[in-house]
Amino acid sequence: MTSLVLFSDLSFSAGCINNCFSDGLNVLRTLISSPELQKFVRVLWLGRNNSVVVGLQFGDEGKGKIVDYLSSSFDVVSKFNGGSNAGHTVVTEEKTFKFHLVPSGSLSTKHIVLGNGMALDPAILINEINSIRDYNRDLKIHVSQGAHVVTPMHKALDVIEENIRGSLKIGTTAQGIGPAYEDKYARTGIRIEELMSKEKMKQKLDVITAMKRELLSGTKYSSQKEINSMIDELYSEGNELKPYICNTSSKLYEFDREGLEILFEGSHGTLLDIDHGMYPYVTSSNTIAGAISQGAGFSFRRIKNVIGVVKAYTSKVGSGAFPTEIIGDKADLLRKEGNEFGTTTGRPRRVGWLDLKLLNYSIRLNDVDYLALTRVDTLGVFDSIRVVVNYDCENECNPPADPKDLDFQEFEGWGRLDSDAISGITRNGFNALPENLVNYIEFIEKSVRRKINIVSVGNKRNLTINRSPIMSN
Ligand code: IMP
Ligand code: MG
Repeated sequence: MTSLVLFSDLSFSAGCINNCFSDGLNVLRTLISSPELQKFVRVLWLGRNNSVVVGLQFGDEGKGKIVDYLSSSFDVVSKFNGGSNAGHTVVTEEKTFKFHLVPSGSLSTKHIVLGNGMALDPAILINEINSIRDYNRDLKIHVSQGAHVVTPMHKALDVIEENIRGSLKIGTTAQGIGPAYEDKYARTGIRIEELMSKEKMKQKLDVITAMKRELLSGTKYSSQKEINSMIDELYSEGNELKPYICNTSSKLYEFDREGLEILFEGSHGTLLDIDHGMYPYVTSSNTIAGAISQGAGFSFRRIKNVIGVVKAYTSKVGSGAFPTEIIGDKADLLRKEGNEFGTTTGRPRRVGWLDLKLLNYSIRLNDVDYLALTRVDTLGVFDSIRVVVNYDCENECNPPADPKDLDFQEFEGWGRLDSDAISGITRNGFNALPENLVNYIEFIEKSVRRKINIVSVGNKRNLTINRSPIMSN
């Protein structure tokens, strides 16, 4: 009897040990597979994965899609330049979002930061914040007190200045960005923190309107009554934005110290950089990766990965040289297939072949580590595809409009990716790409000596191949 009790006790204890052991193992397994713990260990071991995504052409390379795709691996997504002249399209399963001011990572990250280098139109910003709220309820928003304000008056000035330029017309987006940055550098610009004071705005606007009296004559902004009502409107928008306004440079510094990882999203493209782009057909801010220091107050030395986004062909809006431009029916076909119409303005974009000479220049300026190649599906519309390798050009950021000596490589097309091809790609990734497309990708990689880590084969998030995850999440 005693031995029986002892035996059952023993087997009970053995069972208990067994259960405890397997419970412990389960806890350990859960801990190990927890993304938070994995991230903690990775940060401890390898350091922060702070990264930046920049466009390597004339904007509209597909940065929005790539940033959205990567952003769930980051705690913070920050912008550091530009304003509502930028337009990013993000396509989720349920909805297509068109963002101008908030980062394209706003749907999946925890914090968004709009840096001091931006030019912000308060009305557009409020609209965009409202549109993402339902999607990402826990998102925390931080807007720099030092970012500059774009007012409706700046938009009117943008149009007037373009008209005066005549044959030197840039083809701006008419979003008031140039005039707002003009005021910034004239040191009369209105900063976001000043939206909370009608007196301060009036003081600034007295000076701006006096300096630009001639330009404004004939517009409604030559009337003090209109300026006063604009101040009232800006004041009420300022109060709506008040909860988000802070010193974003120190915020980013704190995030970094706490171990949160930051993804910076560049606006526009490298060739639109005010200093290093094709001046004067450029935007009014610096668009290269190094502009993070100036436009976010965050040291570029704390960035680990520079990810350059390149479209499989080239597009451009506005004036200026475009050495690889395609004209005529072929251009119409590509424009239609790629829906190449401006996100901000709706203007048809000019289109052309991939230009490796300019791509190499952009890669050098940004010191790109990895490439993301977008819109290979769109290029599938052609039977044969060109890549321009070289042409004569003395100054690398001032190429001829119509070079006579284009050295190009021709590729056989890979055809439209039908639903079978797409489902093969979503299952098997890179290995399922058509051979002609792989040849195209490998040629680019060899020519620019960089790995194409991400290949985008469509607008949606799941149509993205990540060959060897840059960001392990
Ligand atoms: P702004 O930035 O509106 O002053 O326009 C200056 C030039 O940059 C024009 O040629 C615009 O079309 C171009 N641009 C500005 N932002 C973008 C962009 O996000 N994508 C493409 N082109 C842009
Ligand atoms: Mg765009």
